[in-house]
Amino acid sequence: MADIDLRLGDWRSALAHVGEVDALVTDPPYCARTHAKHNASRGSSYDGADRQRLSYAHWTPEDVAEFVTHWAPRCRGWMCAMTSADLALVYRDAYEAAGLCSFAPVGVYQHRPRLSGDGPGSCLVYLMVARPRTAKFARWGSLPGLYQSACDHTGIVAGGKPIELMRAIVRDYSRPGDLVCDPCAGGGSTLIAAATEGRRALGAELNAATYGLAQARIGRGYTPVFGAFAE
Ligand SMILES: C[S@@+](CC[C@H](N)C(=O)[O-])C[C@H]1O[C@@H](n2cnc3c(N)ncnc32)[C@H](O)[C@@H]1O
Repeated sequence: MADIDLRLGDWRSALAHVGEVDALVTDPPYCARTHAKHNASRGSSYDGADRQRLSYAHWTPEDVAEFVTHWAPRCRGWMCAMTSADLALVYRDAYEAAGLCSFAPVGVYQHRPRLSGDGPGSCLVYLMVARPRTAKFARWGSLPGLYQSACDHTGIVAGGKPIELMRAIVRDYSRPGDLVCDPCAGGGSTLIAAATEGRRALGAELNAATYGLAQARIGRGYTPVFGAFAE
């Protein structure tokens, strides 16, 4: 797909050249507790289905603080990070510390998730959003307080998000032509969503195998689904 630049490596080095982006839309690793419980409860879900283990390390509050401190001054628009309950308010506090206007967690709802990670509470993850304290963004308009997502477990990385969900978020928090950055790109769902929505997409992925799968997925292209939330 055109307009997607995915780099291999830790975002700190792979995206060290990046001066500014228009929006940051990302889905980094969740907290230690969610990762541990997900991996421990493998195969014990209500539908008996097996699950992929999370192959990447969890993030700590220190990882979140470093990430937000780095990207806040480099992001001209909205910063949006998906996370689990334990890290949600860590993002909010980090956004505030970086001088951004931050908000309460925006729910991302999946009906009947598998009982992993945060158990029945896994039906909600949280999009932590913040914007610059400028008039332009104060007048951005109304935005959804909740997203509904397909129960989609077919992504190429455990924890991957449906492309249609990410398209909806990209549409809400950026504008056509914007440079949208996902420093923890995983299977590339956000980058594909951004390109499909007419944005330029830039990202990094730490894991070489995941990076290879994402590049192959990007190479195959994506056919948009008419209607919301069904990949
Ligand atoms: C939840 S997954 C992202 C899934 C992605 N949104 C998708 O739908 O395919 C988080 C990804 O962040 C990557 N990651 C973690 N730390 C990173 C870092 N420091 N730099 C770049 N990527 C990182 C992991 O390897 C993992 O693939």
